[in-house]
Amino acid sequence: MSKYIIRGGAPLFGSVTVSGAKNAAVAIIPAAVITDAPCRIENVPDIADVAVFFNILRRMGAQVRDAGDGTYEIDASGISAPVATSGDMQKIRASYYLIGALLARFGRADVAMPGGCNFGAPRQIDLHIKGLSAMGASIDVKNGVITATTQGRLHGASVFLDAPSVGATINIMLAASTADGTTVIENAAREPHVVDLASFLSLMGAEIYGAGTNTIRIHGKNSLRGGSHSIITDQLEAGSFMAAAAATGGRIEINNVIPKHLECISGKLCEMGVSVWESGDSSVVVEGTEKLRSVDVTATPYPGFPTDMQPQASVLLCLADGTSTVTDNIFDTRFKYVDELLKMGASIKVAGRTAIVKGVSALTGAQLKAGDLRAGAALVIAGLCARGTTEIEGVHYIERGYENMIGKLRALGADITGVSDTAEAESTAV
Ligand code: EPU
Repeated sequence: MSKYIIRGGAPLFGSVTVSGAKNAAVAIIPAAVITDAPCRIENVPDIADVAVFFNILRRMGAQVRDAGDGTYEIDASGISAPVATSGDMQKIRASYYLIGALLARFGRADVAMPGGCNFGAPRQIDLHIKGLSAMGASIDVKNGVITATTQGRLHGASVFLDAPSVGATINIMLAASTADGTTVIENAAREPHVVDLASFLSLMGAEIYGAGTNTIRIHGKNSLRGGSHSIITDQLEAGSFMAAAAATGGRIEINNVIPKHLECISGKLCEMGVSVWESGDSSVVVEGTEKLRSVDVTATPYPGFPTDMQPQASVLLCLADGTSTVTDNIFDTRFKYVDELLKMGASIKVAGRTAIVKGVSALTGAQLKAGDLRAGAALVIAGLCARGTTEIEGVHYIERGYENMIGKLRALGADITGVSDTAEAESTAV
């Protein structure tokens, strides 16, 4: 799609089913490259980042078969060289997990620098390099290609991460799965997708302890076998629907969730006056309130409030009674979406890592541009609760990480339409 058109004001009602987690999928897909045995992955979300990753693997020589219903079979036995330098590499962030995965299989990786959402400042990979170097890899970055080499196998090492980086934790886990000896990651990321990757690697024969805590131990094996795994459901897609229900003052049931993963989000929504309760083992119900209350939100690593939900939280606080703050302790420049919300009549000032949000009585539809994935989701939520019509461009960012967002929202009663690139080209031609 090239843009979304939203006529705001309809409260969301009904039920929605959450898809597999993007950030788990993009860690588990490269893990399948570590082995030359087939792997089967279920609950794979139908999103652009996954499609790009599958293209990357196919170009490297792997077979990726769509077995239907979100299940894919990956056979990486046809990959004969540890080289991933196709243009697709720069379309996503997680392509850099091929460094760890290829090192684990071949003892070498030639991998193009990653792309992914740009929050304003370049996203570093120094912690990845630090961890892999401690395990014996020599790493060189030249002309946009990261070359990692090792004499024989990597060796286990003790790695302290200066920040609990999700990406560095995952890359080190992948590499350590076939290293000689034990790798210990201290100050590791604890996000649900890190735990999901550990589950998949364990099925493949790796021995991993402590995933989900800040110390992860990986006892390397000579090689890994194939495995079959179902990806966890997406905490951030669920959270985005929770925010959409709250913003529109509706009531929705969100199915196929892991309620524990949502506690960091529901806690803040409840402080705002939203009602959230569990319904059975894998559903939550979210009911909006007449007037949201102002709160202070601070995005921190899991189990804290996710940075990937802070733009959506800001939209809610635009409509709250009083003044709130939204602080991002993960990324220092993740507030580009604020300029778009200002066009809708929001009152927000950004000071360093904090946005000061003064509640207004309503947002008004406007012409907006999504600058990254979660910013895009936030703008959709703003459009859903705004008076009048909102048009959002740059929606390819949204489609990187949300499966069928338009269809799911329409089923909940939202008035949202996607304009396809072709339709727009045709209307321009006329
Ligand atoms: N950092 C460094 N050096 C590094 C790596 C990270 O300084 O080598 C810093 C970053 O600059 C940032 C902080 O550490 O300030 C955290 O970065 P992290 O490595 O945890 O983030 P990431 O792995 O690049 C993943 C998700 C992001 C999510 C963050 C934080 C994937 C593919 N991406 O990114 O997801 O925001 O963790 O939870 O898993 C999204 O889904 O929209 C998204 C951006």
